[in-house]
Order: sequence, then structure tokens, then C-alpha cells
Amino acid sequence: MSITPAERSAPGKVILCGEHSVVHGRPAIAIPISGMRAHARVEPGPPGSGLRMRASNLKREFLLRDLQPDHPLGRAAHLVLDHLQQPEPDAILTLWSDLPIASGMGSGAAITVAAARALAASLDSQLSADIVSGITFEVEKIHHGTPSGIDNTVIAWERPIYFVKGQAPEPIRIHTPFHLLIANSGIASSTREAVDEVRRRWMATPSYYDVVFNCIGAIVRAARAAAEQGALQALGTLLNENHELLAKMGVSLPQLDRLVQAARAAGALGAKLTGSGQGGNIIALVEAETLEPVRDALVVAGAATVWHTQVSTGYD
Ligand code: PMV
Repeated sequence: MSITPAERSAPGKVILCGEHSVVHGRPAIAIPISGMRAHARVEPGPPGSGLRMRASNLKREFLLRDLQPDHPLGRAAHLVLDHLQQPEPDAILTLWSDLPIASGMGSGAAITVAAARALAASLDSQLSADIVSGITFEVEKIHHGTPSGIDNTVIAWERPIYFVKGQAPEPIRIHTPFHLLIANSGIASSTREAVDEVRRRWMATPSYYDVVFNCIGAIVRAARAAAEQGALQALGTLLNENHELLAKMGVSLPQLDRLVQAARAAGALGAKLTGSGQGGNIIALVEAETLEPVRDALVVAGAATVWHTQVSTGYD
């Protein structure tokens, strides 16, 4: 079997609103971060070598045949080869990423999407966004246990999406481009633990948490309308309200609240934690004029790193 050298990439992501309640069947909105990406390259390997994988950022190298069945990269490669009904190729798959690991920016899902696409391309095949998303969902289960599917979906489709678990994603047409600042608290958080904790609380007091989840669902629907109409003030207010409900759910921290307050005080239209919480990142919705003051305020308030992404209209 001949290998065609191929290189592919996939974006990071951020959840605009609806995290956690999305695990419980309510809607959420996610945005690709096109400027920060994971990359994969496949080249022919020596005959009989099998598939060698190089994870450049981790400075690790391994052979597919040596990996345990629950190794994410091994699982991804097997799912692609099974889907294409191809045997293991003699090839070298090199992976690298601009995305920080375990930061809620979708680094694991982006690596899987890039790897799946590059491997398929090297076998002269192409995988649809739907198939890549499905493969990545299977791999995400190894990382997170019970993911909603939002990360693999937004990264495979690479466009803003309105997402409900188990339903086809609905692309959102952003009316007016806007800026997001993403600030890292410097506190590591585990998506799996945060999701399990919220599930335990919901099972202990379902009537309370169902109301919280429903309120967030209503916020997400309103946020979609605001994004589609260019009502950025309203969108900011909705993000603020979503943060207060996430705090009620118990997934915020004083450090995250401080970052959110600092962004708002410096002129952000709205700010909230993003992703699983209990650490990780916050996002701030800003206009071009307030981008720098809000960035400075986030650094003063203790942000370890601040990234910027523009959410544009040009996805069609
Ligand atoms: O991977 P994170 O940290 O962006 O969190 C994912 C969002 C959750 O809603 C908390 C989990 C999920 O699977 O949707």
C-alpha cells in the first residue's frame, strides 16, 4: 500500500455558553479557535515498520502495535483504519499542537481530528466532518468518560455551533464579528471530575439542578439569537448570567470570579468561566477598543496566560 505524504490541522475550541447543562440535554454554543491549532503529518515509513507515532510536544514516540487498546492515539488510528477498511500502513505520523494541554481548549480532540484527517489523506481518502466527529467522540470517551460530544463536533465542523447532545449540530451565522479573550487561571482542572461532581449534586437535588439547567438552556437560546442579530451588549449580559448560574452549580472558584469581575470592570461586555470550571479558563466578550484594557486587567487579576480570538462571520 503506498502512502501519500499528507498534513492536516484542526482548531482549538471554546465554549461560549451552556457547559455542564449540555451534558444533561440542554443546548450549548461552542466556537472554534482557528488561530490555535493541532497539526498532524503522515510520511511513508520503512517497509514492515508499521505505524510509528511521534507526539512532538510530549517528546514521545511509539508504535501502534505496542499501544494499549485504551490509548487515545492508538484508538483513533484503529478507528480510522477500520472505517477505511485498510490494514496498518508503514508510515510515520507526527503530531504537534499550539494548544495548551488539559486547558479546556480542546487540545485532545483537535489532535484526534488532525491525526484522523492526515491518516485518511495519506491513504488517499477523505473523511466527512461527521465521521471525524464520531471517531473523535469515541476517543474523547477515553479522556472524559461521558462527554456531551460538543468538543469533537465544533472541532470537526470548524464553525460556531449550537449543539444539543444526540442531535445534528446547527451552525450559527454570526452577524457581527466579536472578540473573545480567553484567560487561564493557572489552576489545573479535570473535566471528568467536574462533570461527575455536577452529576452527583444533580442526583442529590434534581429539582434544584433541573431549574438551573433549564435557566441556562434559556440563556443559550437567547445567546444564539443575540449572536445571529449582532446584539453584542445583550450577548455580554447573557454570558454574565450564565456565569452566575455556573457558580450556583458549584463549578466556579474565587480565582475565576476575580478574573470575571476584573474583565467586566475593565469594560468587557460580559465574562464567564468556560469549560468544566473548578480552574481552567474564563472568557471575556470585548469590543476592539476594550481589548487591551481588559487584557491588562486580566493579567493584573492573576491570569497566567491570556489568548485572543476573533469570532468572525466568514464561515460560509
Ligand atoms: O473540555 P472542557 O473543559 O471545555 O469542558 C467540556 C464541557 C462540559 O460541558 C463540562 C463537558 C461536556 O462533555 O460537554
